[in-house]
Amino acid sequence: MLYIGIDLGTSAVKLLLMDGEGKIRNIVSREYPIYFPNPGWSEQKPEDWYEQTMLGIEELLKDADKSQVAGISFGGQMHGLVILDQDDQVIRPALLWNDGRTYEECDYLNNVIGKEKLSEYTANISFTGFTAPKILWVKNKEPENFARIARIMLPKDYIAYKLTGVHCTDVSDASGMLLFDVKNRRWSREMCEICGITEDQLATCYESYESVGCVLPEIADKLGIPHTVKVAAGAGDNAAAAVGTGTVGDGMCNISLGTSGTIFISSRNFGVDKYNALHSFAHADGSYHLMGCMLSAASCNKWWMDDIIGTGDYAAEQKAIEKLGENHVYFLPYLMGERSPHNNPNARGTFIGMTMDTTRADMTQAVLEGVAFALRDSFEVAKSLGIKIERTKICGGGAKSPLWKKMIANILNLKVDVIESEEGPSLGGAMLAAVACGEYANVEEAAAKIVKVVDTVEPDPELVAKYENRYARFKEIYPACKPLFEIIK
Ligand code: XUL
Repeated sequence: MLYIGIDLGTSAVKLLLMDGEGKIRNIVSREYPIYFPNPGWSEQKPEDWYEQTMLGIEELLKDADKSQVAGISFGGQMHGLVILDQDDQVIRPALLWNDGRTYEECDYLNNVIGKEKLSEYTANISFTGFTAPKILWVKNKEPENFARIARIMLPKDYIAYKLTGVHCTDVSDASGMLLFDVKNRRWSREMCEICGITEDQLATCYESYESVGCVLPEIADKLGIPHTVKVAAGAGDNAAAAVGTGTVGDGMCNISLGTSGTIFISSRNFGVDKYNALHSFAHADGSYHLMGCMLSAASCNKWWMDDIIGTGDYAAEQKAIEKLGENHVYFLPYLMGERSPHNNPNARGTFIGMTMDTTRADMTQAVLEGVAFALRDSFEVAKSLGIKIERTKICGGGAKSPLWKKMIANILNLKVDVIESEEGPSLGGAMLAAVACGEYANVEEAAAKIVKVVDTVEPDPELVAKYENRYARFKEIYPACKPLFEIIK
């Protein structure tokens, strides 16, 4: 049988076709625009996602035996607010996970409702990217749109709705809405009241590997696939990536270097970091996880390469980097503000430490190192909770760079396991579909059979020591700049 994994990302939708043995048969990717209507705002059109996903499925299946397709599932960019009216029309463009406009609503939630109550109801506090503050923003700033809301959904759930007609979501993605009682895996009545919405407006919540129904007959006919194709609820992209890298069960770690950067730690038991600096979410394997999320990771490198120095040859730029651990230039990677651990939408990207002999390679190096240092900030929070991690998997576009993997291994002092396929969310999505169709008994079994480690990047003690020194300096830069970020915003 064949399974389709759809990774509804921020820059593109990536689609992957996997067979029953876990072999990848095809991958396609289709881009769509992102809009930044004001500094720190970010939006996309759900209609664009759907159009490109449908075209992507057609392209993916071009040379495949379509009669063998059995299941479809997702990894999707998290937290985005999609609102539909009574006639199922999209009311306004979706507000995305890296949109920072909701600082007043976050302030209200964290300081008037209070972090303790939020943490009690949802296991998390409010960050500007989360969904609940976005709902409050629409309520406060666009009351005419708020009054028209019939359905509230997350990005990938809009695609599932268009494919099946079922208003569904899954526990991992629901966790990032700040409307979900993560521990008990159900909607929080209190949070619905706080946001002025009813549970009817929210979707039915499934485990990620559960089938929500079959594709609608007209969709199946359009795509030429059987009417029996099941759609599984899927997962937020980080949980799906964790499935795709075999980060399931207890105490496993995955780092994702995509538009965002995340460090994801799986756990069989529910747990909350007492400062809520890390997110405490439900995992797609039926358990839980902790996660730190930085808003700009591989996107910092893309910005630096494409927009600033104007090159498409990332590998050639990285070849010029020779002295790891000795760079005197530092970069704060906060191009969209920062989530974990600073929770500051006003933070900004910053270079510091340049001299007349600073080279282009030093600055490129600083960008890559700055992202790794910022990931370490979240990793330090996990360590402070007594969590012991010695190795990590890695995925996302940035994971294609051997140099960046080496920096991560040495800056975080972790063994970095390189897996055969770094596809992450799209592979995880296909694996969840396979579990929903009974090809595997559960997510752990699918991961054990499909995911293969092909190499390990070991930290080098000498370089770890050099980077320890550099990290101590990096840590001083954000607190020193913080008052300036308030002035220049
Ligand atoms: C996670 C987060 C990002 C997006 C990126 O909390 O906001 O990783 O899911 O797509």
